[in-house]
Amino acid sequence: MYETILFEQKNNIAVIKINRPEKLNALNHKVLDELFSAFKHCGEVETIWGVILTGAGEKAFVAGADIGEINQLNSKTGKDFALHGQSIFNYIEQFPKPVVCAVNGFALGGGCELAMACHIRIASENAKFGQPEVNLGIIPGYGGTQRLTRLIGKGRAMQMILTGEMIDANTAYQFGLVNKVVPLNDLLVEAEKILSTIIQKGRVAVTTAIRSINAACELPLSEGLKFEADMFAVCCGTEDFKEGTSAFLEKRKPEFKGK
Ligand code: COA
Repeated sequence: MYETILFEQKNNIAVIKINRPEKLNALNHKVLDELFSAFKHCGEVETIWGVILTGAGEKAFVAGADIGEINQLNSKTGKDFALHGQSIFNYIEQFPKPVVCAVNGFALGGGCELAMACHIRIASENAKFGQPEVNLGIIPGYGGTQRLTRLIGKGRAMQMILTGEMIDANTAYQFGLVNKVVPLNDLLVEAEKILSTIIQKGRVAVTTAIRSINAACELPLSEGLKFEADMFAVCCGTEDFKEGTSAFLEKRKPEFKGK
């Protein structure tokens, strides 16, 4: 069904694996299109409650946008190129189901940007992160200047983007770029563990939490707080809210239904 990604559903979790290991999983047009289709599918299938995104092989998650394609750009097509990638990464960031990125090696350029669009990042010990675009005479175009700055702060983002140098997984952890670092062999198990914890919760609560946290990066505090109150109210109208609070009071485990 797909040429450049592998797709698997395990119980209520979908695993999307970018599969161009001979090119270190670089993002060409085809990969982006298929990534979007796979996420759309995950959004539509009711039995999928969360997504793990990773790369094939032991060397790279994604070593960037495909430099062969970038080489052909000019100032007109460059803008379309950036906006196209941004729209797909925005879709992932706003995805209503939780997305955990399992970074299994190089996450460079578009790879680092893709990881940052996911909700949570787990890295293997061999992972390396970087925005090396300046080495090619360009800047990040799939959201790197914006999401990296929000995630790790202006000074560190300036350092990474202006020098183009890579950082290792432990530095990425210290910077707050990844949530956890584990041995490569444990990476998918760890990603599955975190996602399994999340998908056991009320699903409307998880979706509204994702929306509210994303809103925090875009809205002034007063607007963000209003948005949070709206989302809180949405949760209060759900069966899962009644079940969660009743189960606590009755000293039993809740049985959420996702509505
Ligand atoms: N786009 C297209 N092809 C890429 C690529 C990219 N972003 N990154 C790696 N590749 C290809 C290489 O050209 C090579 O292909 P080949 O075997 O047909 O020559 C293959 O993947 C393996 O990469 P190679 O460079 O030989 O591996 P390495 O271990 O020596 O180096 C990296 C690994 C990640 C340091 C190096 O590949 C690199 O710097 N890649 C580009 C990173 C980058 O600038 N990304 C941002 C793009 S905007």
